[in-house]
Amino acid sequence: MFPTHRPRRLRRTPALRRLVAETTLEPRHLVLPMFVADGIAAPREISSMPGVYQHTLDSLRAAATEAVSAGVGGLMLFGVPKPEDKDAQGSGAIDPDGILNVGLRALADELGDSTVIMADTCLDEFTDHGHCGVLTPAGAVDNDATLIRYVEMALAQADSGAHLLGPSGMMDGQVGAIRGALDAAGYTEVGQLAYAAKYASAFYGPFREAVGSSLQGDRRTYQQDAANRRESLREVDLDIAEGADMVMVKPAMSYLDILRETADRSPVPVAAYQISGEYSMITAAAQNGWIDRDAAVLESLTSIRRAGADVVLTYWASEVAGWL
Ligand code: PBG
Repeated sequence: MFPTHRPRRLRRTPALRRLVAETTLEPRHLVLPMFVADGIAAPREISSMPGVYQHTLDSLRAAATEAVSAGVGGLMLFGVPKPEDKDAQGSGAIDPDGILNVGLRALADELGDSTVIMADTCLDEFTDHGHCGVLTPAGAVDNDATLIRYVEMALAQADSGAHLLGPSGMMDGQVGAIRGALDAAGYTEVGQLAYAAKYASAFYGPFREAVGSSLQGDRRTYQQDAANRRESLREVDLDIAEGADMVMVKPAMSYLDILRETADRSPVPVAAYQISGEYSMITAAAQNGWIDRDAAVLESLTSIRRAGADVVLTYWASEVAGWL
């Protein structure tokens, strides 16, 4: 009548559970995405992401310093230009005085090599049409013309002190084009965290508010279809062949299968991005008293690590690093 096997034995006390826990979550595994906005006098909370702010340069420095003190592995910076500074070419992304490049210099000045400073290398925050690239006269996103802009953007970001660039626009050949340009300019040590498998996701919704995006239409001609997995493996292989130093899967929680497969085959470190909508879902449910916020946050991050992420980008990075 007695079960031969009793897996519950190893779950009985916190000490037993701690002894046999397979997955670790440490501050260094977490990267904090941050937004720096031009033309605001005080930090502005993003209404669909309670607790996440568009920063001024001063509040960016302070929040970044706090995150680094808490032990996070790095920072990923996004720029939010003034609406009137956006144009069809996304010129603000390339301008050394554009807000993202100014923000990168502020971080580099404040923190130097004490953390890893990453930059979003994509035009959507800077284009008036909101797409990740420049458009053909017919309104399609022009892959190869966009690569020329990415190269210029990458050089400006390297010049501003970024350690790792994060090409996130899903243009074909973006990693190789950026690698070639960085090397030719002498930035052989500046690396790329390539958004290799990036899906067209409804869960990016709150991010659009975060960066004041004016996107009309969708990104389905360049971001991946949620129905596909082989396509991701191909994207990962191509990015690695083009010189990616790390690859990323994004979003995280709806794509843990892709993350596991990527981690199993990738010779380079793998990151996953727990995106805005994932943050907002947990935050909203917790605000309603429907789930235990802190437990849900830790469970979500642990599951992303368990699925194979070496590094997790999460808006909770600074807070969770503090808990750990
Ligand atoms: C593109 C970019 C996006 C995000 C990160 N980089 C937006 C998009 O692809 O639509 C989304 C991040 C998030 O939702 O938290 N620059």
